[in-house]
Amino acid sequence: MKIIHVSGYEEMSGKSADLMAELIQNSNNPVIGFATGSTPIGLYKCLIKKYRQKEISFRNVTAFNLDEYVGLAKENKNSYHYYMNEKLFKHLDISRRNINIPNGMAEDLEQECLSYDRLVSEKAIDIQILGMGLNGHIGFNEPGTSFKSRTHIVDLDQSTRQANSRFFRSLDEVPTKALTMGIETIMESKRILLLVSGNEKSEALARLLNSTRVSQEFPASILRKHKDVTVMADDAALNKIH
Ligand code: GLP
Repeated sequence: MKIIHVSGYEEMSGKSADLMAELIQNSNNPVIGFATGSTPIGLYKCLIKKYRQKEISFRNVTAFNLDEYVGLAKENKNSYHYYMNEKLFKHLDISRRNINIPNGMAEDLEQECLSYDRLVSEKAIDIQILGMGLNGHIGFNEPGTSFKSRTHIVDLDQSTRQANSRFFRSLDEVPTKALTMGIETIMESKRILLLVSGNEKSEALARLLNSTRVSQEFPASILRKHKDVTVMADDAALNKIH
């Protein structure tokens, strides 16, 4: 794993956007895996800026998102469809038909997972952006998820629902299920960029970087087995690393 140490959130956002811009400029049809959560918001702002300054275009970009809540419509402000549109896609020249996000409203969720997974595999993600949950989850792959998992339906951990409840009016409103790319699906990405910022992630990051242990109990640990992972983390997140 390559580790890029940055001073804080702003530098992380700028540097990760530079890295993404380089990839977009050097590829004819870049396939990018996007993540949600608070962590990549700064990166998305920087990408929009680069697009406005005509440094990059998303005309040929194909986008795949990691996950989506079950039962939230696209128009729901807490759905990841809504998040991606507001925070990124609507500001860019990306073609709507190249945007792929699992449909948590599908009538047949199992079928949705299968088709989504097939599509991801066919296209092959050039770079997958990842954030990390406090319990080491990536996407919505909670502790205990098989490393062999493909896109699937998950029951969200109480701790994840609690953490994400900050976006909802109350904990009760946070969905109990989600669709997520599986660990094996994520690991097929050619390159992975894990962004970690802030003191509250320092325990989780220490668990990832201070040990060589790869265990399903800590999903992010699988990243140790990937041949091209960049972890970009700031001072606060790195403060428990020895
Ligand atoms: C959420 C998302 C993940 C995200 C993680 C961390 O539950 N499903 O894709 O990476 O939690 O979120 P944050 O960046 O807000 O800390």
